[in-house]
Amino acid sequence: MSLSLSLLRANLGAWVVSLLILASWFGVSGSTQKIGRGYRLVAIGRSPGGEGLAGVLQVKQSTGKYGPDIRQLKFFVRHETEDRLRVYITDDDQERWEVPYDLLPRERVPQTKPASSSGSLNLPAGEFSGEKLVFTYKADPFGFTVKRKSDGQILFDTNAGAGDPYNSLVFKDQYLEISTRLPGGAAIYGLGENTQPGGIRLRPNDPYTLYTTDISAINLNMDLYGSHPFYMDLRNVNGEPSAHGVLLLNSNGMDVVYRGTSLTYKAIGGVLDFYFFSGPTPLGVVDQYTSLIGRPAPMPYWAFGLTLSPSWMDLLLSGNGIHQCRWGYQNISVVESVVEAYQKARIPLDVIWNDDDHMDAAKDFTLDPVNYPRAKLLAFLEKIHAQGMKYIVLIDPGIAVNESYGVFVRGMAADVFIKYGGKPYLAQVWPGPVYFPDFLSPSGVSWWVDEIDRFHELVPVDGLWIDMNEVSNFCTGQCEMPTAAHPCPVPNSDTPWICCLVCKNITETRWDEPPYKINASGSQVPLGFKTIATSATHYGGVLEYNAHSLYGFSQAVATRRALQGLQGKRPFILTRSTFVGSGALAAHWTGDNKGTWEDLRYSISTMLNFGIFGMPMVGSDICGFYPAPTEELCNRWIELGAFYPFSRDHSNLHSPRQELYLWDSVAASARNALGLRYRLLPYLYTLSYEAHTTGAPIARPLFFSFPNFTEAYGLSTQFLLGRGVMVSPVLEQGATAVKALFPPGTWYNLFDLRKTVSAEDGQYVTLDAPLNEINVHEARATPFTLVVAFPLGAAVGEASGGVFVDDDERPEMKLEDGQSTYATFYATLQNGTVRVWSDVAHGSFALQQELIIEKVTLVGVSGAGRGLSIELNPRSLMVEIGGLALPLGKNFSLTWR
Ligand code: GLC
Repeated sequence: MSLSLSLLRANLGAWVVSLLILASWFGVSGSTQKIGRGYRLVAIGRSPGGEGLAGVLQVKQSTGKYGPDIRQLKFFVRHETEDRLRVYITDDDQERWEVPYDLLPRERVPQTKPASSSGSLNLPAGEFSGEKLVFTYKADPFGFTVKRKSDGQILFDTNAGAGDPYNSLVFKDQYLEISTRLPGGAAIYGLGENTQPGGIRLRPNDPYTLYTTDISAINLNMDLYGSHPFYMDLRNVNGEPSAHGVLLLNSNGMDVVYRGTSLTYKAIGGVLDFYFFSGPTPLGVVDQYTSLIGRPAPMPYWAFGLTLSPSWMDLLLSGNGIHQCRWGYQNISVVESVVEAYQKARIPLDVIWNDDDHMDAAKDFTLDPVNYPRAKLLAFLEKIHAQGMKYIVLIDPGIAVNESYGVFVRGMAADVFIKYGGKPYLAQVWPGPVYFPDFLSPSGVSWWVDEIDRFHELVPVDGLWIDMNEVSNFCTGQCEMPTAAHPCPVPNSDTPWICCLVCKNITETRWDEPPYKINASGSQVPLGFKTIATSATHYGGVLEYNAHSLYGFSQAVATRRALQGLQGKRPFILTRSTFVGSGALAAHWTGDNKGTWEDLRYSISTMLNFGIFGMPMVGSDICGFYPAPTEELCNRWIELGAFYPFSRDHSNLHSPRQELYLWDSVAASARNALGLRYRLLPYLYTLSYEAHTTGAPIARPLFFSFPNFTEAYGLSTQFLLGRGVMVSPVLEQGATAVKALFPPGTWYNLFDLRKTVSAEDGQYVTLDAPLNEINVHEARATPFTLVVAFPLGAAVGEASGGVFVDDDERPEMKLEDGQSTYATFYATLQNGTVRVWSDVAHGSFALQQELIIEKVTLVGVSGAGRGLSIELNPRSLMVEIGGLALPLGKNFSLTWR
């Protein structure tokens, strides 16, 4: 239940602040050899029913580089919605691999095409117009553009000119290349997962390689855990900002070469399945994108922090909780002591996590009988559950090869493992030798669901953390079991990630050694390096080569299915590896970072990118995964991390403990920053509802609200929560002030609404940022406060906001009578009169729960409130109208003259 509310919007609210300029610059050559002369259009016509355009292309001249060109292609174009255009190109003769339709549901491409011709036709150019977008094509060489109707802008243009450094369309079995021209000045975002030292806006000539890889997040500009071939393009033409999105739905490894004025995809398989989203606002783009790939999963209220528990009320008064995790809580008593220490430090903890420490020899779904005896764990869970806390544990995909381990035995019986040469593919992860379940296999999914079910009987966990699912392997190639003379080390020894199996590289097939080498791990390592060999096979003979980057995604699908069946509650899953659509299933953290100031800074861009990828529940390991953060860094990290949508402190087995209570100063910063998070929880929860219904990121770059303010296009040191709460953390060692960019408007410090910044044209302002902030806290169980913020001293103004409430854990997060309420609030200021009113949808839930708005705080108003005999604070022009009892579930209208 959401029981308090702080809404802030006028020309937007602000608080604490800082700035970073990042200097490192990684240049790579973006050169492309001319390897094809493209294709020629030889037939074109409407698809049956007339909804699409279908055509046939023939290769102009084959080059042989990277394999023979596919002689004849077919394409299909359809305006799937008024703002989404699909352009699909594939082999005309043979079916090719594409992202399975049952994994990522979408419209199927019809098999029909116009009759092909001799190839000698000189077909005229043409266009195919939809509601908002227009597809135009040229016949020879074939090229197409996508144009936005309203402003005539060319969003995508594949026509290569003689002087262009890229090829026309190239389509070979293992090499697909296509480019778009971009206007200089377009700001491009996305194409991850990638740690971007240059910030959120892509830098020309940085490499963007997409192939899911377990390579620590400290590696810059490299392929990481997730693959998201999606970008947003933001332009400002003559003061008119507009944004659009482009998805290339393809799960094969790829390099994307961004040169500033062009962008080239080089994929090593699959099909060209493009989706263009017309925008024109950034919010419009994510709305259109997530309506295709799946809306962000509904998150339980507790995942943001704090579940209501009367026994904790006194603690709630001192701030809001956090997720605490660590690899290396050796036994259940240590976990208990962490919970107690948090309580003692009066930093409420909402979710306590176990890494693999609770497991018996790192085996999934087991308990260490000595260190985590079941009876003791259950007693602990009973206690923390009664306090409203939750418990989450890790599972890895690697299943220990061990005949006395039921999970393995049942998996073998159901034939669920990925195969190589007809036998399960042998790899090594924490438990030693393992096989990897195949989540593309129906029996694999059923077995996984059943194992989770059994585990839940053993331990009633509240969520699951799926890790190492890129998939990560300590070995490369074809391996055999270790010998008695050279056994695998026991897990958690000093170097458990050293491969101890007997392995040899696999180089036999063109899947293992494809003709074009993507820039894997930044150095063109073989695709099977420390993962599954790409010639291994999944269910139905699907090659790992094609499905590799879908592993974590398919595991999240199976895990969600399992959790959905349990308890009848909203599942919570945290996943490391992600693909297009993962946001509809799970939350994400940014992987193994370092406890350094650089990594503190990088966390912002990665978090913002995931919002754009439709995965808004995201955060980084607070204080860094390893090695040891300094006290000062940990202070600043919790101040920032308190505003990650997913806020978790996590650390490595080999680094010292870093729970927030361990330093007095960090505890104080935590109480302050988390205290404000606590006040914002109903707002965060409402944002998560908006994310779930419209794809809107919870944490957003400033340009989402200020697309006109081009100064903010590359800003990666500050961000917004929702439309108008700006977070500007200290990101530099030793700083006690931050230089923050304020878009135009009046900004109210949320720690103290009387403190304002007026930035008429938008400007940098240096703000004090002492190590710890002092906050005023309010308990969640208090009634709502509605904060209405107008531009400071304005004679005329408008403001709006909303709040969503439900029971916090219902599987469905949607508006339904008796189950949830959404209240939209509006305010106007005109001629000294303030009007505030609400428009309530499905009010019965809020009425049943007796949710009340007790106070309206008006900030920025001059002249209003005179009749109220309430003191107007001259600095912030703030009026607090208390003593109200407005039912949240009913429309109200208030007027002050
Ligand atoms: C991986 C995870 C990390 C976890 C560790 C041990 O490195 O990214 O968060 O602590 O494995 O399970």
